[in-house]
Amino acid sequence: MEKFYLTTPIYYPSGKFHIGTAYTEVLADCINRYKRLQGYDTFFLTGTDEHGQKIESKAKEAGLNPKEYVDKQAKQAKELWEKMNINYTKYIRTTDEYHIKACQKIFEKFLAQGDIYKGEYEGWYCEPCESYFTETQLVDGKCPDCGREVKKMKEEAYFFNMKKYVDKLLKYYEDHPDFIKPAYRKTEMINNFIKPGLEDLCVTRTSFDWGIKVLSDEKHVIYVWLDALMNYLTALGYTSDDDSLFKKYWEPDVQFVGKDIARFHLIYWPIFLMALDLPLPKTIVVHNWITMKDGKMSKSKGNVIYPDDLIEKYGLDATKYFLLREVPTSSDGLFTPENFVARYNFDLCNDLSNLLNRTVSMVNKYFGGIVPEYNGIKNEVDESYEEDAKNVINEFENNMKEYEIANALQSIWTFVARTNKYIDETSPWVLAKEVEGESDKEKEEKLEKLKSTMYHLIAGLREIAILIRPVMNDTSDNILRQIGIDSKTITFDSLKEFKEIKNVKVIEKGEPIFMRLNSDEEVEYIKNLMKK
Ligand code: MSP
Repeated sequence: MEKFYLTTPIYYPSGKFHIGTAYTEVLADCINRYKRLQGYDTFFLTGTDEHGQKIESKAKEAGLNPKEYVDKQAKQAKELWEKMNINYTKYIRTTDEYHIKACQKIFEKFLAQGDIYKGEYEGWYCEPCESYFTETQLVDGKCPDCGREVKKMKEEAYFFNMKKYVDKLLKYYEDHPDFIKPAYRKTEMINNFIKPGLEDLCVTRTSFDWGIKVLSDEKHVIYVWLDALMNYLTALGYTSDDDSLFKKYWEPDVQFVGKDIARFHLIYWPIFLMALDLPLPKTIVVHNWITMKDGKMSKSKGNVIYPDDLIEKYGLDATKYFLLREVPTSSDGLFTPENFVARYNFDLCNDLSNLLNRTVSMVNKYFGGIVPEYNGIKNEVDESYEEDAKNVINEFENNMKEYEIANALQSIWTFVARTNKYIDETSPWVLAKEVEGESDKEKEEKLEKLKSTMYHLIAGLREIAILIRPVMNDTSDNILRQIGIDSKTITFDSLKEFKEIKNVKVIEKGEPIFMRLNSDEEVEYIKNLMKK
């Protein structure tokens, strides 16, 4: 079995995750499920990024020591992923002992190789906050956090020699067009960070404690981004006694990151890997953000929406569908209560749920629930429907290959609409009327035509259920169950069997998979959730 290694960023466990934060996880989960359905042996890594000054001060605010605080937060994060049915293979915490040890070893290796050197860090220091700021971070020349005076200070620190690797990195970008998706992010990195001159990176701190200590110089802790990025390696046992997972799964096939952390993953991360002489990830996908009408989601603006609230009211599949449908990789997606309810009512209820219902009830009415086998009777309407059924698979696969999930979903829904149109074009109820009563040759032909129509509808629905499976697993199961197909036997290869469905009986009475919402009431309800 071919391997597939995919990762999300490890999350700062510094508060409750809103739907924006959950987005990267849902995206990666969808690709993981897709690859598994294709027969890959996948390893899906996620976790929490638990060191650094930010976490240290959050813990203080909560009256806990940092470890107690991150234990509590990591538990909460895991509970959310469980609720969202995120099928990760491993959950790494940067406070895990194996990660700490491996990071220390890696740091010493960089030091020994001369990639890390000791120097002096100079910046604006705020004593009460115990923090350094750069000139541009200051607000009116004062501390951006507390507004007090800052002093120019110097302290001993270690630096990573980024300059040494810049040309190699640029060459790598050039030779590997699939390394960064979408491609415009590469241009952004070059123009905004590399061309103006890449500075060496300060990779240790002495102003706080909550971090991994440098083995050979214990008053320094390793900079949280170096510590965090190493998780993708250490989770597989890199540098440990048992590195069998590392041997099996390295390099990442795809890594998902939000646009805010693109710089760390597209510049520093590949440079660290070059310094370790390791193969780079095949692809890093930078996704955009979910935004609100008034910009970024934030508690102070009172516009935050949490996934648990949406799931509780509208179900997991509708929530995931919305997130993945509304945020294309290359631009931001907007969350509005109106949008959410409209997607639910139009896409899920009108288009998908009704299609299933109409089909199940017709197969019951005309054939006592038994789905006729493929009989090859077709006119140009059926021919064109079969053609569309084939094309949607290609479109879907091409979009998934590019990690353009929103487009992949859009192509499925175009096919859902096409299937509804197929019902109108074939008007099975007219055929059914015409075949009633005594049989004669003409009636028999019409009966075969009606059988063929029902077959196509069931085959179309089966195909839709398979295609939506990576995003909407439960809905897919539900559709398959209603049309009498065992979902356990389904893989992506089953898509090839459009004409081979046999011995299938639909359930006696169809059950709506999505019920129409009252728009005004639900929009109000979601608006209230945002004020919580
Ligand atoms: N700890 C770092 C990552 C270290 S990886 C070596 C971090 N954590 S985070 O919790 O702040 O963010 C986790 C993910 O959530 C990031 O991919 C980030 O882009 C994503 N999102 C946070 N808000 C978001 C939206 N509003 N919309 C979409 N994704 C967003 O960064």
